[in-house]
Amino acid sequence: MINKPIVAGNWKMFKTPQEGFSFVEECVNLLLKIKEVNVIFSPPFTALFHIESILKHTPLALAAQNVHYADKGAFTGEISTDMLSACGVEYVIIGHSERRHVFNEPNDWINKKVLTVLRAGLKPILCIGETLEQRKSNETQQVLKEQLVAGLAGVSENEMANVVIAYEPVWAIGTGEIASVAQVTEAHGDTRNIVEDLYNHNIARNIAILYGGSVKPENSEELIKCPGVDGFLIGGAALKVDSFTNIIKIVQDNYPKE
Ligand code: PGA
Repeated sequence: MINKPIVAGNWKMFKTPQEGFSFVEECVNLLLKIKEVNVIFSPPFTALFHIESILKHTPLALAAQNVHYADKGAFTGEISTDMLSACGVEYVIIGHSERRHVFNEPNDWINKKVLTVLRAGLKPILCIGETLEQRKSNETQQVLKEQLVAGLAGVSENEMANVVIAYEPVWAIGTGEIASVAQVTEAHGDTRNIVEDLYNHNIARNIAILYGGSVKPENSEELIKCPGVDGFLIGGAALKVDSFTNIIKIVQDNYPKE
């Protein structure tokens, strides 16, 4: 179990800088009493700089949704870790299923990004998860293992202290369909065991493993109580002030569990 659960809102390609600024301002006011949850906003690149000006005097953090693995260079359309750090970014989402499946990002890119992010002093949120087809053909555990082995290749034991993992079954993302308590518990247990095999018991025990996929205020109590769930990576429900802040309150009230 980790000290503080994490709730990260992944806005995907939604909200202009102005809309993002007002949204975060409203959330900050509603979250003044939240001391026991690490709250992370992950807006599009264009909103990061403005939002940092609100967050810099708060414990709330900023994440980017992607990064390039090179430090700089002729990579039209890409963003480097230095550029993100200069905008106050602390975390970077890597290997989100939309990056893997819509943009065909391969595991070796994901791994290079994880290494670049860590070496820049930022924290990767490494996303893993199976498709519906893979679940139906009983390949979930194998897929999680492949994604973790490849994604974490070359990451040292010390660097693991800065890694966050998000288990997001692809079939539950943006579909309204959530994984059952049994499925979530099993996948989180498998993920932790794989980390233990790759590293050691302590690292596996202390790593934050988030669940993502149609998390909403209505299901968040049940999900945060699942053994091995240390918080959420939220898409749709993170776009509305009410639902996002309600989930954060539910997480604060229900974690740690006995
Ligand atoms: P969702 O997205 O909450 O809308 O299902 C989750 C995610 O993409 O991280």
